[in-house]
This record gives sequence, C-alpha cells and structure tokens, in this order.
Amino acid sequence: MSSGRVFAVASGKGGVGKTTTAVNVASVVAEADRSVVLVDYDLGMANVGQVLDVEDPAGATLHDVLAGDAKPLDAVSAAPGDFDVVVGGTDIEDFGRADPSKLRGMADALRSEYDVTIVDTGGGLSHDTTVPLGLADETVLVSTRQAAALENTAKTRDLVERVGGTVRGLVVTRVSGSDVADDDEVAALDVDVLGSIPEDGRVADSERAGEPLVSFAPESPAAVAYRELGYELLGESPPLSFKDGDGEGAGDAQPGAAMAEMMGEGGDAEESSEPSLLSRVTGGLLGSNGKD
Ligand SMILES: Nc1ncnc2c1ncn2[C@@H]1O[C@H](COP(=O)(O)OP(=O)(O)O)[C@@H](O)[C@H]1O
Ligand SMILES: [Mg+2]
Repeated sequence: MSSGRVFAVASGKGGVGKTTTAVNVASVVAEADRSVVLVDYDLGMANVGQVLDVEDPAGATLHDVLAGDAKPLDAVSAAPGDFDVVVGGTDIEDFGRADPSKLRGMADALRSEYDVTIVDTGGGLSHDTTVPLGLADETVLVSTRQAAALENTAKTRDLVERVGGTVRGLVVTRVSGSDVADDDEVAALDVDVLGSIPEDGRVADSERAGEPLVSFAPESPAAVAYRELGYELLGESPPLSFKDGDGEGAGDAQPGAAMAEMMGEGGDAEESSEPSLLSRVTGGLLGSNGKD
C-alpha cells in the first residue's frame, strides 16, 4: 500500500464544524494506527495551527508550498494527537502568494508518504475552495441542520460532482436535543449520513487546550461520535471501548460483518464488511451482522 487516501472536508458555509471534524477525524485515524497528515487548506482563514496549538511549526507553511517557495514535506509539523499537520500562513500577503493549482503536487507528495491525508477547506464556493474537492478521493460534507447550511451543502455536493470529485457522505454537526440526523431536509440531500455529532461544550474546551477533542475528552459525546465517524471513513468498526490511554488493547475491531444495507443507507459497495451504525452504536446488541 504505497498510495494513501485523500479526504477533503467541505461545507457551503463557514462555522459549521469543518475544522473540528477534520482535526478529530485525523486524531481518530491516528488512533487506528494509520499515518495521517492534516492540511489546513482554508487559505483565507487558516486556523488549524491555533486550534491545535502547534508549538513548533515547520519552517514552511502551506502557503510557502503553494507559492513554490518550499517543498511539500518541508511544511509538515507534528500535531498533538499523534498526527502531522501542514498549517497555513496567517499573514494577509500569504493569501495572494498561494497558487491553488500547486495543491495537486502537494497532495501527491503527501499521498505517497501517508496512509491518510485530510484536507480541511474554507467555506464557500470560490475557485480556490473547489480545488481540493476535485483532487481528493472522497469529500466529506459537513453541515449543521439549519436550513441555510443544508441549502449550501446541496450546492457544495453539486460542485464536488462538477469538478470530478466524489462525495463520500454528510456529517451533521452540532446536533442537539432530540434531533436526529436523518430527517427530511437531510434526507433530501440524497447523500449517505456518515455521522451525527452532538453539540458538546467540551469542543470549546479542547480548542482552548489546543488538543483534539477525541484525546482531550475521549468519552465526551462528540468525541464518541467522532470516533465512530473516523472508523466509518476507514471502513472499520471502532474499538468496543476506548478508555483514556492509548486505545491499544482496548478491544479490537468488532468482528461485525457487513450490514450497512440493513440501515437502508445504500451500503457502499466498496468496502465490504462494516457493521451497521446501529450495531456500532449499541456495541453490537442491535442491528445484527447478517451479512447474507
Ligand atoms: N459539536 C460541537 N459542539 C459544540 N461546538 C462546536 C461543535 N463543533 C464545532 N463547534 C464550534 O463551532 C465553531 C465553528 O467550528 P469550526 O470547526 O471552526 O467550523 P468551520 O471550520 O466549519 O468554520 C467553533 O467555535 C467550534 O468550537
Ligand atoms: Mg475551519
């Protein structure tokens, strides 16, 4: 396996939880023993560096690479949470220097170095925002359940297709109360719902601490949901328990056979055996593994 997978995290609207999703998925993928790099491709408002409190950034930023002033791997630094990160420049001139067409070379370089590359993007539909959507293997859409956010998500979904990308599905964020992700408006988008992340006050705490939520507060509701999501993206089952500490020996993937179909999610044909969401949420108690 010399060639890794590239995921883009996108939304039509800012402030819906893309960066939170990208950071935490990166951390979960690292927990699952994959090498992973997170690229902050929000060219205008790069903030992964702050959210993760990257202490010792590499000598170069993404903007330097996109300006042709640095090699892709020179911009990689270590992030808390056991993964690597490419932070963006934060000076206003940096924005003008960046040439989005250089992102492809960057992604290729990272793809050959890491199992998983996650590209966080800025909100909106401008040209530079769309570049990662065309070159990622799969785009993960992020939206809250607000009507305006969902409308913009529909546009982003169309855009991904127009630039030749692939939508993996939707992550519904900041879900509160008795909200469920698969209501009518969400269903109207006609994309798989990959996960539903509850509103969780620990998210802000983890940002203040400069750490991914999944390591900062591993058992908080949003962390649990992000863990589900991360393994879902890998096509695996999450460990049955994930006590603090290293997540190793915390129980291997459930043997659960494929049954996404049972959930009526139009189970992706690509990776064969993953247990249903229901099965995973209930630790295998519900949603049996009937593969045939
Ligand atoms: N599940 C959540 N619960 C509570 N607050 C959240 C959650 N997800 C994101 N937030 C907050 O929402 C704001 C926007 O999140 P962010 O991930 O930066 O969005 P984006 O990258 O789409 O602009 C941040 O202040 C973040 O702390
Ligand atoms: Mg962001």
